[in-house]
Amino acid sequence: MNIALTRAVPPTIADCVLTHCPRAPIDLDRAIAQHVEYEAMLGALGARVERVEAAPDLPDSVFIEDTAVVVDEVAVLMRPGASSRRPEVDAVAAALGRYRPLQSIVAPGTMDGGDVLRAGRRVFVGLSLRTNHDALRQLQAILVPLGYAVDDIPVEQCLHLKSAATAAADDLLVLNPAWVDPARFGGIEWVAIDPGEPSGANVVRVRDSVVCPTSAPRTRERLEGRGLTVRAVDASELAKAEGALTCASLIFSQSAVTR
Ligand code: GLY
Repeated sequence: MNIALTRAVPPTIADCVLTHCPRAPIDLDRAIAQHVEYEAMLGALGARVERVEAAPDLPDSVFIEDTAVVVDEVAVLMRPGASSRRPEVDAVAAALGRYRPLQSIVAPGTMDGGDVLRAGRRVFVGLSLRTNHDALRQLQAILVPLGYAVDDIPVEQCLHLKSAATAAADDLLVLNPAWVDPARFGGIEWVAIDPGEPSGANVVRVRDSVVCPTSAPRTRERLEGRGLTVRAVDASELAKAEGALTCASLIFSQSAVTR
């Protein structure tokens, strides 16, 4: 069983942090409806969706992925690069503490979960405006002894590493070669997005299926051409808040429960 932690769309989402996106009006009701459909899709694909307590005063709190990195052995609490986002972490820590031992990235390290891409035992960390070398070294100190290889990748063209690349399977990435150099992934096989669909590089894995945004139909076809089962959801309102599909959940295996 996979657990998918999510967090409600806050009424303050219009005040979210933006880095590469121009600010555009967000239809709150539509954003909430799309988020509910997203949660329903995760549930339909076999995840048990658990909502962390809402944080109405934290505009980016729906983007729960940025608060933690969860592997089978441990959950690592992030210290988000945007200081306004750091208060998001405590409630997620309380939820994750039921499933994993907890460790933390501490100052002067900063890291967003959106910069951490895991493919099997390989972990790639985007060095971006949100994630720095100090945090990279801290994550390596936690994960390398557990048997993970942790390598860094520069990120300059987009917000997070996972804006540019995600894992469709342990051995298959989907990526935007205009935003990240495929050679940085050490030989893992990859599928390029359709060049007109930059949002297509961010897909969510749930068990053996993949969820892609409805804004990336041709990228979806490419993934289906690789034999993957692909579903699509519309997350256009969250995209205006510079959030992609992975940003809205923390998905991990319940079977690794250790206490
Ligand atoms: N609005 C999402 C972020 O900047 O982290």
